[in-house]
Amino acid sequence: MWPSDADKIMPDGTVKDVPLGELSVDGKVRFRPTVDAGPRKRRRRWLLHAATLSALAFVLHLVWESVQCPIFFVHGSYDASPWGMVTAALGDVLLTWIIYGVVAAISRRWRWAGAPWSWGQIAAFIATAFALAVGVELHAQATERWLYRGAMPVLPILDVGVIPVLQLLILTPIVVLLAERITARRGAREGTDAVRQRYDRVAPIYDLMEWVMELRFRGWRRDLWALVAGDEILELGVGTGKNLRFHPLGKKITAIDISEKMLRRARRRAARLGQTVTLQVADAQALPFADASFDEVVATFLFCSVPDAVAGLREERRVLRPGGRLRLLEHVLSKRPVWRRLMRWFDPIPSRLWGAHIDRETLENLVEAGFEDIESSDLWLDIFKRIAARAPSERHPPQRSKKA
Ligand SMILES: C[S@@+](CC[C@H](N)C(=O)[O-])C[C@H]1O[C@@H](n2cnc3c(N)ncnc32)[C@H](O)[C@@H]1O
Repeated sequence: MWPSDADKIMPDGTVKDVPLGELSVDGKVRFRPTVDAGPRKRRRRWLLHAATLSALAFVLHLVWESVQCPIFFVHGSYDASPWGMVTAALGDVLLTWIIYGVVAAISRRWRWAGAPWSWGQIAAFIATAFALAVGVELHAQATERWLYRGAMPVLPILDVGVIPVLQLLILTPIVVLLAERITARRGAREGTDAVRQRYDRVAPIYDLMEWVMELRFRGWRRDLWALVAGDEILELGVGTGKNLRFHPLGKKITAIDISEKMLRRARRRAARLGQTVTLQVADAQALPFADASFDEVVATFLFCSVPDAVAGLREERRVLRPGGRLRLLEHVLSKRPVWRRLMRWFDPIPSRLWGAHIDRETLENLVEAGFEDIESSDLWLDIFKRIAARAPSERHPPQRSKKA
């Protein structure tokens, strides 16, 4: 803990006046200030971004070159050996940087993949990538570094191969988007809007992405829902509605999700199954329901992607009737030292690419959020768990939120 933060800790261990997402709690209170640490930190972040962008550009272009060169080119003085491919991919890294620089200069923004592109950016991107690709091809042909095989479709008038032009037009945005996603600031990556956008984007392929795991999850879902009692039930983060078929009949069930596109699929599934359920868009961290509205709250694989898990759990506690149960299926950070270390190391990959954290300490977060009688059973190792927790019988005012 930073000494200057000591005065923010309340006698009960909670913290006041700390912006969401700056605090981590695991029995002891620890601070991790995320205030901009100044030019040094910004420089380090920029270098990391530049290195990531270069590495991605190199790898993707190397793969592309290795496939297209043997098929489409008759090599003149061009060296088609592995080293030749490496030098070609290095050249493509340079071209990627030139395109990136031109678009960044006209939009005055170095990172330009995350937000929707303006027409100016799109035009600058296409013009620069096209001009560079054509220039490199014409130069290579003029110096007889390579010749096209008959199989290569060529652009009319310019007599330049279509494939190398497409290479820059297709790979550059992919490289920039991935680099930005991987190196974006934690807050920007994990804000609630970012999560919503991410699930809106994956909604059409979500079921396909998960189908292998679903072979295992299906039984876990059935067993979880068999335990659900009470008349008024809330399901959080319903997603595409994989739990719908297990909803108990004759209960009043409300299901929410932050992503309208995931919810649309849940609506279709509910209609197919003939299930009566109220489906609505809402954020688990700020529910549009009165205190003590539900007998039970259920969520499956939700809290890995809720930005402020403790704030969410406090909301769940608020809408539960005193003594009501929260039931979860979750993956959590293992307590086994080797797994724990690996999960912490690898967390940036899933969390940066598709937003699911594998280092969440949900049991500790439940304590933090004020739940009682927390029970959990291991479903796979000590990582996948079925969890039940009880809202206190007496109502206490909700505490200030802390980070998961
Ligand atoms: C990993 S999916 C799980 C979906 C579903 N529960 C299941 O088991 O298949 C997480 C879901 O939670 C939703 N979600 C993420 N953050 C949320 C939030 N703050 N409030 C409500 N839903 C949220 C996402 O849109 C997504 O549909």
